[in-house]
Amino acid sequence: MHLILFGPPGAGKGTQGALLARHFDIPRISTGDLLREAVRAGTGLGREARRYMDAGELVPDTVILGLVREALGSESAQRGFILDGFPRNVAQAEALDGILRFLHRRLDAVAVLDVPDELVIKRIAGRRSCPNCGAVYNIHFEPPRTPGRCDVCGGELAQRGDYQEETVQHRLEVYRAQTEPVLAYYEQAGVAIQYVDGSGKVDEIQAQLVHALQT
Ligand code: AP5
Repeated sequence: MHLILFGPPGAGKGTQGALLARHFDIPRISTGDLLREAVRAGTGLGREARRYMDAGELVPDTVILGLVREALGSESAQRGFILDGFPRNVAQAEALDGILRFLHRRLDAVAVLDVPDELVIKRIAGRRSCPNCGAVYNIHFEPPRTPGRCDVCGGELAQRGDYQEETVQHRLEVYRAQTEPVLAYYEQAGVAIQYVDGSGKVDEIQAQLVHALQT
């Protein structure tokens, strides 16, 4: 299975991608995770990427393409992969075609998680985490017992820079302007596109995705 998992920020690509990776026993390659790892490691690439990520902008293609080329060429991706967060614009989609041609692979499908903007904002901007123990909450869906305090260790909960509501709004604008046109690109190329409602419960969405990808 060579799959692109597509959808706006907060659609649940990371959540569903991890479950699909387990189901199909193939790796999930998330450019967001690769970038966050580089930021945590404090590499030059990570320092460059961080200012774009915090502002809700796309990181330059040259930075992303090196990461993707390496991940797709790795041993673990030989039987297939789930791309999450890539391609993010038409130039990245064209570059992916070149990488796949070089590796003698082709895409099987693009799965699109459809989620309305209001829900995206609640899911992302409502998210809080504990810097001490890593516990994660959502003030709308899974609030801590005491507002602002971690249930597990009592630490003060924090909000990630790119989870602020204005930044989420901007990420949605960037998605509409730069990322959504990628779907027309794959439609024209004749790649199968499966649309799944991403607003339900995690296990229901997973079942719909698996069904859509197996038919
Ligand atoms: P990236 O990490 O790719 O972020 P994103 O796609 O914008 O969105 P998220 O990861 O926040 O959402 P998601 O769809 O994975 O949903 P999740 O499962 O986490 O990118 C971050 C940044 O890196 C970008 O802004 C950009 O700067 C840069 N970048 C990355 N790739 C790039 C590229 N190719 N080119 C250029 N720049 C790039 O779920 C979200 C929340 O909702 C979670 O809290 C989750 O628990 C909750 N949730 C999920 N599903 C459900 C459900 N069914 N019900 C209730 N809650 C749910």
